[in-house]
Amino acid sequence: MEPLAHQLEYLSDRWLSIASETLTALTQQAEDLPAFVISESLTNAPSHLGWPDNVASWSARFDGQGIVVDRTFVPTADWSRQGAYQAALIAGQTIGMNVPEVAAFALRETNHWFGDAAVSETWRESDESLVRLIGNFRDHMARRTVENPDIAHRVSALGMTRHIKELFDQGYTVVERAISPEFADALREETVRAVRSHQNPSRSLNGLLYHGLVFERLVQNPQLMTLIDASLGRGAVIASISALCKGPGKGVIPLHTDYAQVPEPYPDYSMTGVGVWALEDWTVASGPTWIIPGSHRLKRGPKPGENPPPGVAIEMPKGSVVYFHQGVWHWQGDRELPGERVSIHAHFNRGILRSLEPKRIDVQMLHRNSPRLGEMLGEDDWFDKLSADGRDYKRLEHMIRLNRFNDEGVAAILAGAA
Ligand SMILES: [Fe+2]
Repeated sequence: MEPLAHQLEYLSDRWLSIASETLTALTQQAEDLPAFVISESLTNAPSHLGWPDNVASWSARFDGQGIVVDRTFVPTADWSRQGAYQAALIAGQTIGMNVPEVAAFALRETNHWFGDAAVSETWRESDESLVRLIGNFRDHMARRTVENPDIAHRVSALGMTRHIKELFDQGYTVVERAISPEFADALREETVRAVRSHQNPSRSLNGLLYHGLVFERLVQNPQLMTLIDASLGRGAVIASISALCKGPGKGVIPLHTDYAQVPEPYPDYSMTGVGVWALEDWTVASGPTWIIPGSHRLKRGPKPGENPPPGVAIEMPKGSVVYFHQGVWHWQGDRELPGERVSIHAHFNRGILRSLEPKRIDVQMLHRNSPRLGEMLGEDDWFDKLSADGRDYKRLEHMIRLNRFNDEGVAAILAGAA
């Protein structure tokens, strides 16, 4: 599954080839660099990468003159990592691993989801120029490293098979504690700050992505993105990233679907989905979202005066996300508690649709993130690329291949074959 020319799949043959080129260039630029070895060995890699026993290993040796890269693991390397491939991919897509706060964040969120033993990293050499070189190398690779395209493998590695089945059966699913409580607290503080600075009497704010690094990190959450890939296909784009602060009182968003201006009957496939992040514990009294399970099968919105089927309150702990899609019926509950319920709404559309909020493509933002962020901002989009020379067939053909691989994986999960 070859990604676009400027992208790389983690530890693929081309990743190793670019790693060799990058390390060669970096070592040639450096002065007084000691000889070193760096190495990784990751288990449960996706089978399409073709590693024996799905163990992905590599090392790079610098003898003071040149770089040699091969597929052996060197446990005594000056810098080494071992662990599970999907867990290691989080750091493998993180830019800024030389910045203590960034590295601590990546490690905390990885450990939160996969457990403390999922990945271990060892430094045996603390030469300042070597530490800086390895950091620069990892940054260069991370900003080109894509998400694991094998969704069947990814869902299994993330432990989300149940969620995918629920999503298609009920029209929604809840991923409990998808982020750490610390990250949820930081997000709540930053969200309140952003909403306050906006001074909108409705206590809501669109375009939240552009209000800080914490939001860039949240929208790339691997668990939510996996639900979005499964329901909307690859190349799904941000419709809007919104903040909402809901005070005490009646809910103000009545029963509806998110299919604005979509003719009925709705299609059999999903066109739009929303992940709502709980930044405090959600209970009936806190005024949560309510959803009517299975209502996506009605393929229409509620009619005026209609007596709807019963709904369920989405109760979930802080740091969880509820994702609903495909025109499922939902509404905002009444809040009985004092204070505000602060939530972030990550609304995505299938890649063939337009967005609600305009995309603001900032090269600096793309540069400090993996291609995952660019994908949701339409960078891999096969539309809007027509030039005087014609269509961008390379991008189109890549997205057709990626979506076929993705669709086959989802079908296998739903059939119980993955
Ligand atoms: Fe909605």
